[in-house]
This record gives sequence, structure tokens and C-alpha cells, in this order.
Amino acid sequence: MTILIIGCRGQVGTELALQMKQRGREIIAVDLPEIDITDSSSVKNYIARPEVSLVVNAAAYTAVDRAESERELAFAVNAQGPGLIAESCRIGNIPLIHISTDYVFDGTKSSAYVETDPVSPVGIYGKSKAAGDSLVAGCLEKYIILRTSWVCSAHGANFVKTMLRLGNEKETIRVVDDQKGCPTFAHDIAEAIVTIAEKYLAEQELPWGCYHYCGKGETTWFAFAQEIFRQAGERRELKLKSLLPIPSSEYPSPVKRPMNSVLNCSKIIEKFGIQPRPWKESLQQTLNDLYLQESAITSS
Ligand SMILES: NC(=O)c1ccc[n+]([C@@H]2O[C@H](COP(=O)([O-])OP(=O)(O)OC[C@H]3O[C@@H](n4cnc5c(N)ncnc54)[C@H](OP(=O)(O)O)[C@@H]3O)[C@@H](O)[C@H]2O)c1
Repeated sequence: MTILIIGCRGQVGTELALQMKQRGREIIAVDLPEIDITDSSSVKNYIARPEVSLVVNAAAYTAVDRAESERELAFAVNAQGPGLIAESCRIGNIPLIHISTDYVFDGTKSSAYVETDPVSPVGIYGKSKAAGDSLVAGCLEKYIILRTSWVCSAHGANFVKTMLRLGNEKETIRVVDDQKGCPTFAHDIAEAIVTIAEKYLAEQELPWGCYHYCGKGETTWFAFAQEIFRQAGERRELKLKSLLPIPSSEYPSPVKRPMNSVLNCSKIIEKFGIQPRPWKESLQQTLNDLYLQESAITSS
């Protein structure tokens, strides 16, 4: 039983391929350029392989700001792509685990978002992801859509790595303090997907549908940055002297972001027994991984 992982060089895909291999699972792990999810023959070429029994789509267009000027590409990758993947899965009767985002919501709700809340994305990225989710849900019965938020890891570009770079370069950094959400680390998302995949491979059945999964504990980008610098500062000296909170209105961006991105994870806890991990603990692990990578580079 082979699991096809699409988007295996992204933040989540990298961790997922690693954890699946560590568990001795047979995987086919692909990303651009081996597969292009906007091309139906490229998608079929992998999903129609007889050994494939489960597909995970971790591929996406994730540049939230750039999406405003690259609407067509964002929709091709985040909407048409998952649509093509779902269509191939339907033909082969293969279940699909597809990853989605908190940005399908507009952030105006005062409490945490549950799976049944209506989507109302504000930017192109959120709109393209919501369109992809709806194509997946409309095409397949056997699907899991896993919505997550504020993804960070030791690989790829993300908020933690940006803050660490700025903390080494600048004495003053301003960070938005009026958007709240839950940082989620790619290794935890991968662990949640592994749990879901293992359950499917053991039982050939799942409580299909949409689930929310994010790190435990809500915060703001500013408080997240404070914690990054607190933990990083214990390990090394930073150039940073002053971290200042600012409102979203003072942050230059072509797109409005949700003010509230907090996801309620009760459903995944209840149906799969998956417990969100405290994000501060996962941050510690990610900083360990980052510093290990760095010392490996400097000592080689
Ligand atoms: N990042 C976040 O903060 C965040 C927050 C909430 C939800 N999510 C969701 O979580 C999932 C994983 O995100 P991530 O942060 O791991 O993303 P990521 O690091 O940007 O990785 C996405 C991967 O997809 C690949 N890709 C792009 N276009 C493709 C195409 N046409 N065909 C095949 N592969 C393609 C990318 O390749 P290139 O790098 O070569 O383009 C990249 O390797 C996505 O569904 C995302 O929407 C992310």
C-alpha cells in the first residue's frame, strides 16, 4: 500500500515524507517539476499507478501577498489542481487528504472557527483555496480536508525564519499585534496526517470530511515574535534591541488578512484522538532543528 505525497518539498510535504519513511511506509513523494498539479496528464500519471492507495496533497501556491497580482496562477494551483487530483482519485476510488487554510474565513467571528462556519475569504489566496476545497468536497466522498494555520518549520520560508533573520540584522522590528491565530508547525501537521493515514490503511474507512488542526494556544504575530526572540535569545546574541507592536493598518500589504484566524480543533480530537501540541513546545523543537542544521553547515 503506497501513499502518494504531492508537494513533498514544501514545509508540510518535507516533514510528511520524512515521517512516513521513518515508519517504513511505502511512499511516492513528488513535487514540481516531476508533477505539475495544474496539468491533468501529469496528475493522472501518478495517481493512476496501481500501487497508490492513498493520496496526500500538500502542494499549493502559498504566497498570500503575491497572489493578489498572480490570480490566475493561484487559482490554477489551489483550485484547478486539487480539482484534477480529486477527479483522478474518484476514477481510481482512492481517498484524498487535502490541506487547506484558516484564510478561507474572513476573521470577523469573535470566537474560534468550527468546520461548519461558512467560508468567506477576503484575498485571492483564501478564495483560491476555498475554491479548491469545494472542488474536492464536490467530487469525492472519501476525502479529508485538513484546515491549518500559520505554518512554520525548519524548512522553507516562514515567519519564524523571517524573524530570526531580522533579529540578526536589525535593532528595531515592528510586528502586527491585532491579528490573532494559532502557530502550527509542519512536523505536527505531518504527525496528524500520519495518524489519519495509518487509521485508513488499517481500517479502510475513515470519518470523512473537513477538520481543523492547529497548534494549541492562540496568540498574535507580535506575541509569537516575542516568544521566538525569547527562545532564540537563550541560545545566541541577537542584534535586536526593540520589538514594537503595530496595528495591521501600519503594515504595508496588498491584501487584508483575517483578524481572527483561530481554529477550533474539537472535531479532530473527538474523531481521531489527535491532540494539538502547544505551539511554544513545537517552536522549541523547530529552533533545535534549525540550529542543528546551521551547525552542520558551519562544521562541514
Ligand atoms: N504556509 C502557511 O502559513 C499555511 C497556512 C495555512 C495553510 N497552509 C496550507 O498548508 C499546505 C502546505 O503548505 P506549505 O507551507 O507546506 O506550502 P509550501 O512550503 O509553499 O509548499 C508547497 C509546495 O507545492 C509546490 N507546488 C507549487 N505549485 C505546484 C504545482 N503546480 N504542482 C506541484 N507542486 C506545486 C511548491 O513548489 P515550489 O516551491 O517550487 O513552488 C512547494 O514545494 C498548503 O495547502 C497551504 O495552503 C499553509
